[in-house]
Amino acid sequence: MAQNSQNITKKAEILIIGSGAAGLTLALRSADFAQVTVLSKGILSEGATFYAQGGIAAVLDEADSIESHVEDTLTAGVDLCHRNIVEYMVSRSAEAVSWLIEQGVPFTTKPQKSEKKSDRDIEAAELSSLHLTQEGGHSHRRIIHATDATGKAVFETLQKRAVTHPNITLLEGCTAVDLVTQSSENASQPVCVGVYVLNQETSQVETISAKFVVLATGGASKAYLYTTNPDGASGDGIAMAWRAGCRVANMEFNQFHPTCLYHPHAKSFLITEALRGEGAKLELPDGTRFMPSFDSREDLAPRDIVARAIDYEMKRLGCDCVFLNITHQPPEFTIEHFPTIYKRCLEFGIDITKERIPVVPAAHYTCGGVIVSAQGETDISNLYAIGETSFTGLHGANRMASNSLLECFVVAFGAASSIGEKISKTEFVEAIADWDESRVTDSDDEVLVSHNWDEIRRLMWDFVGIVRNSKRLEMADRRIKLLREEVRDYYIKHKVTNDNLELRNLALVSELIISCALQREESRGLHFTLDFPEAAPTAKDTILSSKKSLNMVCNNPLPGVMHSHRNIET
Ligand code: FAD
Ligand code: SIN
Repeated sequence: MAQNSQNITKKAEILIIGSGAAGLTLALRSADFAQVTVLSKGILSEGATFYAQGGIAAVLDEADSIESHVEDTLTAGVDLCHRNIVEYMVSRSAEAVSWLIEQGVPFTTKPQKSEKKSDRDIEAAELSSLHLTQEGGHSHRRIIHATDATGKAVFETLQKRAVTHPNITLLEGCTAVDLVTQSSENASQPVCVGVYVLNQETSQVETISAKFVVLATGGASKAYLYTTNPDGASGDGIAMAWRAGCRVANMEFNQFHPTCLYHPHAKSFLITEALRGEGAKLELPDGTRFMPSFDSREDLAPRDIVARAIDYEMKRLGCDCVFLNITHQPPEFTIEHFPTIYKRCLEFGIDITKERIPVVPAAHYTCGGVIVSAQGETDISNLYAIGETSFTGLHGANRMASNSLLECFVVAFGAASSIGEKISKTEFVEAIADWDESRVTDSDDEVLVSHNWDEIRRLMWDFVGIVRNSKRLEMADRRIKLLREEVRDYYIKHKVTNDNLELRNLALVSELIISCALQREESRGLHFTLDFPEAAPTAKDTILSSKKSLNMVCNNPLPGVMHSHRNIET
């Protein structure tokens, strides 16, 4: 580790920003050939991964098939998924689950017959012993899970492995500020050589020089007032990549989960779709079921359809929430399968074995992101993006339930192989400019930060929500541009803090979402606009390029897409 007198310069062969499913998987898959550092801006567990409930979609049942999982994903994504990528991910789902079992993830199993298997059959036997549940859009039971706390089980298992690995360093309280890129002599693409990182303990910005930088920073659902996501989901990786010159795609497709607990004291608590997989039904306040009149798949229709139906009914009746009813199941079944939800609801005085659960939709998942290959390669050399921060083409206009964790694992595997092939030919770049704080003062008016933060999230909720129209999107566009100016002005005059960094990123990502939404003059999946209620005849991705990226040769040219440069400042 090298140091100079003013700034601390550290080195990591592979620097992974983010300690969720994607980041930890890549760390474990690459630590046998490289020295890896993983950063988290909060405590290690504070990403979406820890809160994942339903599970991981994988083809494990004999009656199921890769083709069926592929077709369901394409249908849920409303013709916008990239078929080759869907096939790539789905065909690797069993391998991903086997690896997780090897790491020790305690997945829920079904009762097994006691006959002995031969050694060769052990892995197959383990896979076939897993209990499979069902979620919206899936035509088979294919969700493997650890009761209703799958993310916690995955995170804790991977974290335990990573903590004890001699080649992995895990750093908490470190917020990546921006990527350091340099132009390279031999290529038209810039190369990523490190990252500026705010050490929250010392309030200093340090420079970490790296051979490879990986963005595994999760999604941007915090752009919305009501969300199922933890606090850090401010789209930092997408914002950093955009500022560095990467293209982003399909940001208009922010997914709203249909069922978040509605209670004044419950902050962002998800009620898993697996409840509906086990027969729970959505009801209006008077007990009437409504999903049958919206879709033939009823309560197990894909999420965009269910969230929109709830939004419609709440507006029609002027009610604060709808209800999810699982009281038809024996109490022992509900408590065994959904212990976390049972306990949490009971804390709010709701016994889900006897009473209906009040629910509302909330922002849940960022389907768009930094454009990457199936191995996580971005437009910038030696910069990767994996997990929710990335856009591979898997999710199309609406992610199918439990395909997100699958993507985290499969792309992390690919990124590890890709980095493994390049690492022996890659050197550190020593000459990185220090972070310059000579012209800024201490952050002196934090109320501006919190005010702008609230305003953006309310603006996004009110004007860029489940049902959109052009007038509101244009108003949101005008307002976000003004807000971004205020945020930028504050940012350049003050020392960075975790809060003002998140605000800066959230403001930029919100502008990217609005910009994509304005470009999509049709309704498809999660983007529903009253001005263009039908789907266009041809499905196209929305690709945004900054001025910087237009000057670069991109790694992943996507044919036949809406491709534009809009006037979005980096
Ligand atoms: P995350 O797990 O979100 O981790 C992001 C990491 O990046 C964190 O460590 C954070 O600290 C770090 N970070 C962010 N910005 C910075 C920065 N600037 N500097 C340093 N560190 C930074 N998907 C499924 O497939 N199945 C499910 O059952 C499921 N259930 C879900 C339930 C809930 C409540 C939620 C919110 C999501 C759920 N999802 C589910 C979605 C899925 O959990 C996420 O998409 C996935 O976990 C994302 O993993 P990730 O590794 O990309 O990011
Ligand atoms: C859920 O459990 O309902 C969430 C699953 C997901 O987001 O994929």
